[in-house]
Amino acid sequence: MTTNEALIARLARIVGEGHVLTGATAAPYLTDWRGRFIGKALAVVRPEFPQQVADVVRLCVDHNIPIVPQGGNTGLCGGATPDQSGRAVILLTTRLNRVREIDTANDTMTVEAGCILQTVQERAQSVGRLFPLSLGAEGSCTIGGNLSTNAGGTGVLRYGNMRELTLGLEVVGADGQIWHGLRGLRKDNAGYDLRDLYVGSEGTLGIITAATIKLFPQPVARCTAMLALPGVDKAVALLSRARAGFGAALTGFELMAGACMRMVTRSYPHLRLPFEGPSADAPWFALLEISDSESEQHARERFEAVLGEAVECGEADDAVVAESITQSRALWHLRESITLAEAESGKSIKHDVSLAISRIAEFLAQTDAQLQERFPGIVNMTFGHLGDGNLHYNVGTSGRFTESDMVGHQAEIYALVHDAVSAMGGSISAEHGIGQLKVSELIRYKSDQEIKVMMLLKKALDPQCLLNPGKVLAAY
Ligand code: FAD
Ligand code: MLT
Ligand code: ZN
Repeated sequence: MTTNEALIARLARIVGEGHVLTGATAAPYLTDWRGRFIGKALAVVRPEFPQQVADVVRLCVDHNIPIVPQGGNTGLCGGATPDQSGRAVILLTTRLNRVREIDTANDTMTVEAGCILQTVQERAQSVGRLFPLSLGAEGSCTIGGNLSTNAGGTGVLRYGNMRELTLGLEVVGADGQIWHGLRGLRKDNAGYDLRDLYVGSEGTLGIITAATIKLFPQPVARCTAMLALPGVDKAVALLSRARAGFGAALTGFELMAGACMRMVTRSYPHLRLPFEGPSADAPWFALLEISDSESEQHARERFEAVLGEAVECGEADDAVVAESITQSRALWHLRESITLAEAESGKSIKHDVSLAISRIAEFLAQTDAQLQERFPGIVNMTFGHLGDGNLHYNVGTSGRFTESDMVGHQAEIYALVHDAVSAMGGSISAEHGIGQLKVSELIRYKSDQEIKVMMLLKKALDPQCLLNPGKVLAAY
């Protein structure tokens, strides 16, 4: 028996025969969702209990084997994909999928890391509560992945990102010890905040096995509308108006370039924009949603009054308010189809940036012009969560700027966009994380002091550098 075979046999003794995958059965876990990163692994292991996670970690660390945690594998930065060495073990969390407790008096739910986000939303709904994290991949991403990337999505402006939705964690460290931190406390200033350290650490500091998350009341009514907008400055003005008019009832404000929506309807002809005539060709669209705690009628009257004013004063050219839940879903479906349509429409470069909302219009005008001047024919396909100042400032190809131009100039394009973001005080990763995609970008834009502290933390918590090596920070 080779050393690898012996190790695989020991892994199988921990997690059970049939839960250590090698060869062809491991293949789906070796590539990221976008197909940009392809790795190799010694094996994929599927533990069912936190103690099995701890035992796998201890065995791997004893044998100097890197561990790559993976949940739903929907991450957009290659964080869950191993490198090419073939030394790593992928630790798949999908069997850690129990809802351990729902405490309606405390408005909390304790769930294991491999629970699918949509299942968690449904369990919350079944007890009359809302778990508000919402994103296009919710049918397959896991709570552990959401925590590890500090996922955002479409409800952040009202409810916050995954960090803000989390009260407690259970984590297996690189020493194979389980930290039992599943506290459902809204106030806890007893020492350094380990929970906030692990959230967003992309599997490089520990493996999250469970979390206690916040629940909210279900809204009594929701209203959704799509608006056709003449310019991005008007979108920013509309956002201000919506904030003032709806206050905390504003639960979604998404911005989509016309080019994105037309890409969606081209890719999926059964999907239709709700506008006809010139509005269908608008340069920008917005998707707004409010959640009301009084009544359907109250929600609708407020909604129509504010949107009516927006159209009257020229912030929007046209507005369509969904008349039913089915219509509301259809509007959201158009928005959530952008990522898939983009993936199917050839090569693109995705930027996930955030800026002060007050600088968004200036950023777009300046960066669009610089990109066109440097790369004539490059296509802007920006969309994002305007309410959070988060733009997916994506660029695609055309007859004049081809796929090979895109591949050849990738580093320059990243640098041009990220330099502009950085000059305006923004972030090069708003919600997708760093993974392996942006490792060199992180070093470029974080201060030496920040990188030094991050490296100190990494060394302290993972001295052999076996937890998701090559992600977030390249060298320690
Ligand atoms: P994976 O892809 O499996 O892993 C992501 C990272 O977390 C990796 O670094 C992995 O090693 C680590 N990890 C996973 N589980 C654990 C664990 N238990 N312990 C420690 N580390 C772990 N993201 C947004 O923020 N907002 C969006 O609106 C959004 N929309 C999306 C839409 C689509 C169609 C797609 C494909 C993706 C979208 N994403 C979005 C990105 C992605 O869905 C999120 O990053 C999600 O949180 C990843 O969850 P996952 O379970 O798939 O994680
Ligand atoms: C989204 O907002 O739809 C996601 O972050 C996914 C993406 O950027 O493609
Ligand atoms: Zn997003």
